[in-house]
Amino acid sequence: MITVTRKGKHLGAEISGVDLSQPLDDETFAQIAKAFFDNEVVYFRNQKLTPAQQVAFTKRFGVLEQHVRKESRLAEHPEILIISNVLDEKGNAIGSQDAGRFWHSDLSYKKEPSMLSALYALEIPVKDGKPLGDTSFASTTAAYEALPEEMKKRIANLKNVHSYRYYRAKNMQAQQEEQARGGRVIQEHMLTEEQLASVPDIETPVVRTHPVTKRKGLFVNEAHTSHMAGMAPEESEKLLGELYRHVTRPEFIYTHHWQPGDLLMWDNAAVQHKATFDYDLPLRRVMYRTTVRGTAAV
Ligand code: SIN
Repeated sequence: MITVTRKGKHLGAEISGVDLSQPLDDETFAQIAKAFFDNEVVYFRNQKLTPAQQVAFTKRFGVLEQHVRKESRLAEHPEILIISNVLDEKGNAIGSQDAGRFWHSDLSYKKEPSMLSALYALEIPVKDGKPLGDTSFASTTAAYEALPEEMKKRIANLKNVHSYRYYRAKNMQAQQEEQARGGRVIQEHMLTEEQLASVPDIETPVVRTHPVTKRKGLFVNEAHTSHMAGMAPEESEKLLGELYRHVTRPEFIYTHHWQPGDLLMWDNAAVQHKATFDYDLPLRRVMYRTTVRGTAAV
C-alpha cells in the first residue's frame, strides 16, 4: 500500500512505500497513476534506479518519446534526455545545460505534447547544506479555475501558436545576455533544418481539457507560445502577459527541493514548470528525464 502526502495547496505530493526499481503489480500501479492525476506533481524519495528501470517504470504510462536534441540523449537509452551542467573529459556538455529556463510544459509545440515527464536526480548541487537547482511547478488547472468569469469567456475559443523555433531564438538570446553578464557559458548545438522541420509550429487551444481528469487548464506558456493566433501583436502580448502573471501566482506553485534519488513526475496537461539556475561548476547537477507521449490538446 502506498502513502500519498500532499505538499502544495493545489499540487504536489510525496508518494512513499514503493520501490520503483522492482516490477509493480497492477494494483500498486493504479494507485500511483491515480495519485499522479489527483496531485499533478508527485515524487518518490530514495530511489535507486538504473536507466533501464526508469524506462521500464515510465513506460507503464504509455509510449516514451525521444527528444529532437539528439546530442543530449543517453546513448544506450535514447528515451532518456540528460539534463546536466557537467562537461566530459574533452570539455563537451554531457547533456542539456539549459533546460527549463522559462515556464513551459514539455514538448507543447508538438501535435501530441508530452503527457508526463519523469525526472530522476542522480547528482544535486549543495551549498552550505542547502540543495540548489530547485524546480518550480504551476498548476494551470487551478489557475484556470480561479480566473474571473469574464476572462474565461474571453479566452474560451482562442488559439495560440506554439513554436520550437521561437523558443530556440528566445533561449539563445537569453544565453548570450547571461554570458555577457559574466554568467554561465552554455554550449548550444545548432539544430539542422531537418531537425527543425520535424517540429513545425502548431496552433493549439488556449484552454485545454485534461484528457483524463477533464479539468480545464491554461495552455499558453512563455517558452513556446509565440503569439495568440489571429490577434494583433500588441493585444496578443498584453493578454499573454496577463495570463502568464496569473498562472505563476504563488498560490498555484509547488517548488521542489531536490535530493539525489528523487524520481519526480509531472503532468504536462495540468502544470507548467521552470528550472532554477543558482549553481555552477564545480557544483554538479545530473538528471535523467523520460517523457511519455500524450494526446493532441483539445
Ligand atoms: C525541464 O525543464 O525538464 C528540466 C527542469 C529542471 O532541470 O529542473
